[in-house]
Amino acid sequence: MAVLKIARMGHPVLLERCRPVADPGALEIRRLVRDMFDTMEDAPGAGLAAPQVHVPLRLFVFRVQPQRSTGAAGDAVVGNTVVINPVIEPVGDERQMRWEGCLSIPGLRAAVPRFMRIRYSGVDCDGQPVAAEVTGFHAGVVQHEYDHLDGILYPMRMADFRPMGFMEEIGRAEELSARMEEIRREWASFAA
Ligand code: NI
Repeated sequence: MAVLKIARMGHPVLLERCRPVADPGALEIRRLVRDMFDTMEDAPGAGLAAPQVHVPLRLFVFRVQPQRSTGAAGDAVVGNTVVINPVIEPVGDERQMRWEGCLSIPGLRAAVPRFMRIRYSGVDCDGQPVAAEVTGFHAGVVQHEYDHLDGILYPMRMADFRPMGFMEEIGRAEELSARMEEIRREWASFAA
């Protein structure tokens, strides 16, 4: 088991546009993926992109744990998964606000606008296709991780910074959750 050091916001690797992986089956890529699973579990986190461990390549890992899954079609429980050289596209233009955190921005959480439903594809370390049309948490985490490969951190997706704060504070702040409800309603009407 190897837990890698995670780059925090401010490190230039997080702003890079990452390069495609030339050989997904290469030994060093398999080792990187294994170490990224270990690092994600140790953190613990729901996803991790290669630039977060100082490797500017187009791959990320993620999982949808039982407490995250809504159980809806396209948002089932998913074990540790790698997506190499991913392609992602929205399905429809409906969006929603989702609470997100990032291992590169420790301690903070924010409500971030994301597409409700997406389709993505890529390959795993055996070159086997990985493809799905997803919604809910699964759609949110894949959009978040994919953004890392283009040097985008979640605050760069936000137009309104009021629903952002330290986890411990948010847990206590009724005002913030009320504001979150207000934003949900605004977005619901926007999407309709
Ligand atoms: Ni992140």
